[in-house]
Amino acid sequence: MSAAPAVPHHIAIVMDGNGRWATRRFLPRVAGHKQGVESLRRCVKACADRGVGVLTVFAFSSENWNRPVEEVSGLMELMVGALAREVPKLKEDGVQLHFVGERGGLSDKMVGGLLQAEAATAQNHRLVLNVCFNYGGRWDIARAAAELARRGEPLTEASLDRAMALAHVPDPDLFIRTGGEQRLSNFLLWQSAYAELFFSDKLWPEFDEKALDEAIAAFQNRERRFGKTSAQLNASPTDRQIA
Ligand code: IPE
Ligand code: IPE
Ligand code: MG
Repeated sequence: MSAAPAVPHHIAIVMDGNGRWATRRFLPRVAGHKQGVESLRRCVKACADRGVGVLTVFAFSSENWNRPVEEVSGLMELMVGALAREVPKLKEDGVQLHFVGERGGLSDKMVGGLLQAEAATAQNHRLVLNVCFNYGGRWDIARAAAELARRGEPLTEASLDRAMALAHVPDPDLFIRTGGEQRLSNFLLWQSAYAELFFSDKLWPEFDEKALDEAIAAFQNRERRFGKTSAQLNASPTDRQIA
């Protein structure tokens, strides 16, 4: 009997499609973002229940500042409110929170909330939840390189990797984007080198447990080769010794 296929240890998600979800209902875009928070709550629980170790979500990109002022301020308010509302429950549920992204440019109230949430959940180990907020993959790489230069350290793959914003977790295994677009939009450019990509046409507020299970099942049917050949991966241990 073969073992049950492994659940991805680290799932990364571009939570896209909130605006369209709202517009289709003749609601303001911010109502879509509110519904997006509900969807994230459900997804966090589903990941923890399925034994996923790390969930990293894209909540606000470095480029999202270019949206209309009322949408940006709506998103900022939503984040401050969600922090106050959600953190006690996340703490209870064993979720360890990390906020990943540039903190300059965020309000003092917001930064205070982020720090408090991280401190309150630091002892948890059931699921690591990285919320990428004011994050960009290019920002992450450039910042890590600048940090190494500042310290006078050599710039190598390994040193850069250790200086990046997600150094506390292994690279994502499964990269999901909802909302139908098939692009990375500057998310986890360095860390997703060998992630399996999965694009869902579902808008983020509609992405439920069933949709998550479909993405996980697709992942389980992929052959991850990391540059090797299929024959190498499928060789028996004795074959490998001979090779
Ligand atoms: C993703 O949903 C959430 C953020 C970028 C903050 P969008 O707001 O991009 O939704 P669409 O793509 O316009 O539908
Ligand atoms: C990516 O979605 C950012 C987040 C989900 C937070 P966007 O909606 O900003 O991406 P583009 O503009 O369609 O590439
Ligand atoms: Mg979008």
